[in-house]
Amino acid sequence: MIFGIENFETYAVIGILFFFGFLEALGGLYSHSDRTKDDWMLEVWSFFQLSLFIKPGIVLFILLIGTSLFPSVHYLWQDWSLWLALPFYIFIDDLLQYWYHRKAHEWPWLWKLHRPHHAAEELGVFTAYRNAALYYVLMPNIWWIGLMTFMGLGHAIVIGLIFKQLVVIGAHSEIRWDRFLYNNKWLHPLAWIVERTISTPATHFAHHGKSARDGISDPNGNFSNTFFFWDLMFGTAMISRQYPLEYGLENDPKDSWVAHMYYPFVKSAKAGSQIGKDYERVDTTQNVPITLELEAGKYLYCQCGFSKNQPFCDGSHHGTGQKPLLFEVKKKSKLRLCRCKKTQNGPFCDESHLTISK
Ligand code: FES
Repeated sequence: MIFGIENFETYAVIGILFFFGFLEALGGLYSHSDRTKDDWMLEVWSFFQLSLFIKPGIVLFILLIGTSLFPSVHYLWQDWSLWLALPFYIFIDDLLQYWYHRKAHEWPWLWKLHRPHHAAEELGVFTAYRNAALYYVLMPNIWWIGLMTFMGLGHAIVIGLIFKQLVVIGAHSEIRWDRFLYNNKWLHPLAWIVERTISTPATHFAHHGKSARDGISDPNGNFSNTFFFWDLMFGTAMISRQYPLEYGLENDPKDSWVAHMYYPFVKSAKAGSQIGKDYERVDTTQNVPITLELEAGKYLYCQCGFSKNQPFCDGSHHGTGQKPLLFEVKKKSKLRLCRCKKTQNGPFCDESHLTISK
């Protein structure tokens, strides 16, 4: 049963990848690609490793443990109708993934396993599966698939997974299928519904944008996987109907695909890498404000206290649960900016540093 499900799903996902990948190739994405060999290795091997080893291995493990320890409940739910089984499977699956993904942006150790996904400077169907191997081993959704298979809901899983992969691959694809919804005014009511229901390229590309400085990207929001309403429910949604111009990580040391894929078992040799051997976050807050003359423009103020470019954000907040504050300077001015990170009036100093000892 398990290998039947896995094979069917794998073939379906390869079909979806080919469909979107073919359209991307027609659009010239791969003939003008700046993807490196490390990007290709990471993306292609990660997909096959997940599909052929990690997912089947976890599901098989649950089936073996389940049939040995709990034989009386094996296939207990197999008579559930599809109308009950499918929503039960897919909504719990997607909620689990929302929180796992969100925590991957908030917990330092989990961020390092998810970081390969955000190191991609080009999006496209292949980006969807680039994560560290351990990220997938710990992913609650895969264990959920195993449990549901054991309980006899295999039919719902196959349909649910194909729908999910269609949305997820489509949300990473450079064919940007949602553009027509924004370009035609009469379709805007439909766009309003679609972008609040499922992940679209516009909302998911915003999650991959390099920096919130562009006013379009929010790497610390739009965590949803299949259904976008989780972001609306939990206050992390950002809908702009625009696509960022830059993707990837700020100050990326360009780790090798092996380090990306097998961290923490293989560490990066690149200086300053978050997945390097001796990496430590350094507290860069200071107990005094700084006065700077800033030109008119948009700036990102660091709120995490780890930036090496204080008082501005340099991307060091990834994996801290903190995010930078975007502020605009309308005309050239001298500003007194907080560096202790205790101000209640960020980015400006409110004298809070006088109340703390460091
Ligand atoms: S480095 Fe971005 S908020 Fe601190």
